[in-house]
Amino acid sequence: MITKFKNYQELSKFAAGKIVQLVKNKPAAVLCLAGGDTPALTYDIVVEIAMAESVSFAAVTFIGLDEWVGIERAMPGSCYHFLQQKIFDPLHIQQHQVHFFDSGAHDLQKECDRINKSLENAGCLDLALVGIGLNGHIGFNEPGVDPLLKAHVVELDQLTTATGQKYFTTSTALALGITLGMAQILEARNVMLMASGKKKAAIIRKALQEPVSNAVPASLIASHANTLVLLDDEAAAEL
Ligand code: GLP
Repeated sequence: MITKFKNYQELSKFAAGKIVQLVKNKPAAVLCLAGGDTPALTYDIVVEIAMAESVSFAAVTFIGLDEWVGIERAMPGSCYHFLQQKIFDPLHIQQHQVHFFDSGAHDLQKECDRINKSLENAGCLDLALVGIGLNGHIGFNEPGVDPLLKAHVVELDQLTTATGQKYFTTSTALALGITLGMAQILEARNVMLMASGKKKAAIIRKALQEPVSNAVPASLIASHANTLVLLDDEAAAEL
């Protein structure tokens, strides 16, 4: 289902409301939350509502979506650091609640196995909140990805490494990513795919209106029965 909002604020309010409602209904929910600019305001609003309404996130499990390989967790620009600032610290999330890729690990395959196991142990994602890359990627599932893959390491598309510079204050070498696989995201009970702004309009049109294909991984998500596609007017401009 596609829902349009008049602007980024309305889109973010809606998404935040959904997250908080899910945790109210299911305090032990399993959440997978994307990094990136798009959900930033959503997370601020989640924290605001959770504080105002004393909604506890103490039983929630967080499964990491993706990370830049070689970017330490503590480094601004890492997906972990972003979520730590936006969600984990403000909501007093304990370390045992968070299962996130350590992309500085020596053995990245072991990291994938570890996160696959964490997700298996948690059961199933209750919600995956994902953004969309300019090339249609989801997490770091880049164009052409095998949709049956679970967590894996991936060579990043040039557009991804170029766009990724926006998260870092100085030019940063980015080449590989580590990510949950499409199979795991597609198994989520609910998926929210968010897009905001003019620059996302063309890829949103491809993801929603061209034949479903792993050439645009977001099209696999968008066509999924449990997916809510949330767009602001600018991102929906080419539909
Ligand atoms: C990034 C991340 C994704 C994110 C997407 C969109 O590279 N790997 O998890 O959802 O690209 O990012 P943004 O919201 O900043 O446009």
